[in-house]
Amino acid sequence: MQERYSGTQQALHWATLVLFLVQLWTYPAIARTHHAPHLGVPIEPLDLVLHQIHALSGGIILLFVGLRLWLRFRHPIAAPSFPMAYFAKISNLTHIGIYTVLILLPITGFLKMYIISIAGPVHVILTRVLYALIVLHIGGALVHVIIWRDGLLERMGIKLPFQRAALKQFRNIQQ
Ligand code: HEM
Ligand code: HEM
Repeated sequence: MQERYSGTQQALHWATLVLFLVQLWTYPAIARTHHAPHLGVPIEPLDLVLHQIHALSGGIILLFVGLRLWLRFRHPIAAPSFPMAYFAKISNLTHIGIYTVLILLPITGFLKMYIISIAGPVHVILTRVLYALIVLHIGGALVHVIIWRDGLLERMGIKLPFQRAALKQFRNIQQ
């Protein structure tokens, strides 16, 4: 069992963060292209490009999620240590939630764009669920870094100063 994510897993995690930011950057162009005909103004060519980038980047996120789940299944990772068992449950549920939403978002986005417009509001609701999960996820990471100082981020390739044990606890789990 691995005690940290492999280089490939780390790269896929941080690349997904970048692609998520690309989604936030490109989505306003979608609304502009939809509203332009109603407002009687021409659609900006750049907005059409951003629209396509949104769809492409969403598709890549889905591909990365597939790869990450496959890697995770093939190479199990030791659970990090938590002072209380229910924190481990919250962490697990948050990760499962993020993966689920990252699968449903590209599906509903694709449906809205090419097949059925009712998928649009579902896509929008899913983005709100994703925001909440990401706030929980980053909040949890901050608790690890600032309060427990247990070196958790090292498992995702980020080595920070002032961490108490830096992976030692994870090694203890193994012994
Ligand atoms: C994980 C991947 C994705 C994320 C994080 C994401 C994120 C977003 C966000 C934040 C919005 C704006 C929601 C709002 O109005 O407040 C949006 C809208 C939209 N996205 Fe995505 N998206 C993803 C994948 C996709 C894909 C793959 C497609 C198309 C193939 C797509 C098509 C759309 C469309 C058509 C809208 C407008 C929905 C509407 O207003 O009815 N998205 N997306
Ligand atoms: C500053 C931002 C972020 C930080 C510091 C961060 C940090 C981490 C860390 C340290 C882990 C490993 C947790 C463990 O060892 O159990 C992790 C896992 C994970 N992160 Fe993030 N993350 C960030 C942003 C994101 C974003 C934006 C997403 C999704 C769009 C995301 C999705 C995930 C998922 C799904 C896992 C579970 C990986 C697995 O076990 O397969 N993270 N993150």
